[in-house]
Parts: sequence; structure tokens; C-alpha cells
Amino acid sequence: MATAQPGLWERHEVFEKNSIVLLIGALLVVAIGGLVEITPLFYLKSTIEKVEGVRPYTPLELAGRNIYVREGCYLCHSQMVRPMRDEVERYGHFSLAAESMYDHPFQWGSKRTGPDLARVGAKYSDQWHREHLRDPRAVVPASIMPAYAFLDRPLDAEAIADDLKANRALGVPYSDEMIALAAADLKAQLDPDGPAAADLQHRYPGAVIRDFGGEKGRVAEIDALVAYLQVLGTMVDFKIYEDKKNLR
Ligand code: HEC
Repeated sequence: MATAQPGLWERHEVFEKNSIVLLIGALLVVAIGGLVEITPLFYLKSTIEKVEGVRPYTPLELAGRNIYVREGCYLCHSQMVRPMRDEVERYGHFSLAAESMYDHPFQWGSKRTGPDLARVGAKYSDQWHREHLRDPRAVVPASIMPAYAFLDRPLDAEAIADDLKANRALGVPYSDEMIALAAADLKAQLDPDGPAAADLQHRYPGAVIRDFGGEKGRVAEIDALVAYLQVLGTMVDFKIYEDKKNLR
């Protein structure tokens, strides 16, 4: 005959036949799991690992980013390469948290009507971007992206110093000098032969200084937007990591 000792399975009956006991049991399990996940976050100074090369946006790039946000480019474009093989093969190295540490708000997105733009920098020429923004169908015949020809109008950068200040309030390490010189730096980035080019490089290491295909002496919205698109995904030199992998 079977023993009177109830097996593990039968003891489980208490939970299955009494919803309150089940509820309390579930809460207990979730609470322990939550503690295990959340407690370490209180002891870590930062959950973002600093990565060499990531710097705050230059005033020109930041102005371009503002246009990107204003025009809602994020409604069709994400900026986060996920660590899955098809994405890495198409877009390049998966995104690191540090790459968007100075993005307020971040532009990760969850909708890809168009391709991910996290690594679009340096993929095309400035001229390609200008042509594509003016009339996407001119360079990609099947494109459904709207045309942004109106971005050829003058850039209103009067509030750029305040933009830097607002970003500093959110933790972006802009110095007093960077804020004081924001308007001048914005123009200086478009003029590689100008007297301020070297200083700008010093304040924003690795910043690309060129006209981005625009007219000399005139700053258009599209110049700033192209400068922003061209810096996306270019701050971290992933070659170093790939070369290391090859050495192993
Ligand atoms: C209605 C959706 C939509 C919106 C809004 C949109 N795009 Fe696109 N975008 C697309 C599609 C679709 C493509 C792919 C076809 C093409 O290259 O035009 C694309 C392609 C691109 C590419 C080329 C990417 C690559 O790797 O080939 C860039 C750069 C780009 N868009 C920038 C922008 C910017 C900047 C804005 C905002 C000013 C914007 N897009 C707004 C749909 C959109």
C-alpha cells in the first residue's frame, strides 16, 4: 500500500486550492527576485561603463540633434543596434550604453520604418545626406521617407548656449568655457581654416571640422543636421576591439 507521507506534489495542493496562499506565495517569490535584481544598483556608482572616445556633442551637432527631435525622425528611425546577429551584420557593432550617455532624451526608439541610424555616421558623403534629405527619391528611388527640402533655411541658434546649460543640468559635462563659447564654436565647426578650429578640437576631441556641404558664411538647419548624422556611431573606435579579437 502507498505510504501516508504526502509527496512534494501533494503539498503543492495548498497553493493550488487557496488563491490567497497562492497570491502571498507569488508576492514573496517576486519580492525576493526583485531584491536580487535591484539591490546591487544601489551600491554601483554607475551602471554605464565609461568608454573612450565618447564626448558631449559640439554645439553644431547638438543643434542638429534638436532638429532631428523636432522633426520626429525618431518616429521612423531607431538608434540602437541590438546584439543580434542580423543587426550586427547589417549595422555594425551593437550599441553600448555609453554611446547614448549624453543623449537627453535618448533616441533609441522602437519603430523602424527606416533603418537604424546609430551607426550611420561616415557611411555616406555629406552631399548624399543633403540630396537624400532634400528629396529621398532622388537617391533611393523606392524610399518612402518624407522630403525635408525646407531644412535649407537659416539655423536659429540663438539659444544654443542655453541648450548646453540645460544639458549640463542633466549631467553632460559642458564647462563654463564651452557654454560661453557655444555660439562661436557652432560656426567654427563649419570652417576648418578658421582661427577657432584648433580650440574647438581641444574642447571637443575628435570633432570633425568641415562645411558639411553647406555654403560658406551661412549656417543652415541642414548643415547642423548633417553634422549630427555624420557623428552618429563614430565616437568609439570599434576597430580596436576587433583587432584585439583577431589577436586572440
Ligand atoms: C515616415 C518615416 C520616415 C521619417 C519620418 C524619416 N525617415 Fe529617414 N528613412 C526612412 C526610410 C523608409 C528610409 C530607407 C530608404 C531611404 O534610404 O530613403 C530612410 C533612410 C534614411 C537614412 C539613410 C539610412 C541608411 O543607412 O541608408 C537617413 C540618414 C535618414 N533616413 C535620416 C532621416 C532623418 C534625419 C529624418 C528626420 C529629418 C528622417 N530620416 C525621417 C523613413 C523615414
